[in-house]
Formats: sequence, structure tokens, C-alpha cells
Amino acid sequence: MALSHMSSWKGAGIGAGLALIGMVGRKLAVQAPTALAGDWDKALAAEHRMALGLFDKLQDSHGSASGRRTMLLMQLKHALGKHAMEEENAIYPALREAGMQAEADALNTDHGYVKQHLYDLTDLVKDDAAFQARLSAFRTDIERHMRQEEDDLFPKLKAALDRKATTRLTRRMNQEGLKLA
Ligand SMILES: [Fe+2]
Ligand SMILES: [Fe+2]
Repeated sequence: MALSHMSSWKGAGIGAGLALIGMVGRKLAVQAPTALAGDWDKALAAEHRMALGLFDKLQDSHGSASGRRTMLLMQLKHALGKHAMEEENAIYPALREAGMQAEADALNTDHGYVKQHLYDLTDLVKDDAAFQARLSAFRTDIERHMRQEEDDLFPKLKAALDRKATTRLTRRMNQEGLKLA
């Protein structure tokens, strides 16, 4: 009796262990495209392209059922949530450390409006025309933000970091991404 009780406990432990390995494996798989893209700036640019791909799909969803828009919007929310975690918890602090405090704060404010767009789009998912109009305004805003990061501020930060600091920042960025992967 006592023995079978013990073995069932052991079984539960193994089950929980496997579930944990499964969860960690899934998280690693979700973070892998970012981690494999290279240094932090390349990884974030790859995520920008991935997010714009979801905008393309949402814009193509014009005229289709709201279920498809809901699913794609969920994917976009997840991708941008993870991306924001990486930037706000690792990259923007590094920008401030490198003397670009006002620039980092402005990018952080932009992220607040990204969340506003996502919040409002959630309410518009059943209204095809209004959804597309809002999506288009959102895309204009987010592309401007991405261009500022990729073409101006990230190259400035990259130039301010040596190889060791770049590797360290890439690792920190991936650790933050894994939290939401
Ligand atoms: Fe950003
Ligand atoms: Fe970004």
C-alpha cells in the first residue's frame, strides 16, 4: 500500500518533469528563430519582418470571416508582446546606458500605442472595413517605429558596444524573449 502510494507519487513527479521539459522545449522552439538570427539587432529585425508578414496576412483577410482575423490578431499580439519584452527589458535600458535616454523613452511610448492599436482592433474584429482602416493606420505607425530602430538607433547602439557587450546583450534579449515564448 505504502509502496504503491510512493510509486504513484514518483509517477506524478516524472509526469510533471516531462511536462516541464515539454514546456521548456516549446519555449526554446518559439525563441529559436530569434536566437538563431544572430546578434540582437539582426534578431529584432527578423522579428520586425515576421510581424509585418502577419500584417500582410491580416490585410489579406479583407472580406473573410472574423474567425481568421481573430486568430491572426492573436498571433500578432503574441509576437509583438514578446518583441516588446525583449526591447523594453534589455535593449532600451542598454540604449539609455549608451546615452540615448530620450530616444529610448520615445520608443517606449510608441510601444504603449502599439498596445492601444491592438486593444482597439480586438473590438473591431467583426467590422471588416473599420478593422482594415485601423490596421492600416497601425501599420504606418509601427513601420515608422521599426525604421527608426533599424536605421538609426540600433546601429548607434551597436557601434557603442564591443563584441563582448554585444554577445551579453544578445543573451539578455533572448532570456527576456523566453519569458513570453
Ligand atoms: Fe520597438
Ligand atoms: Fe522593434
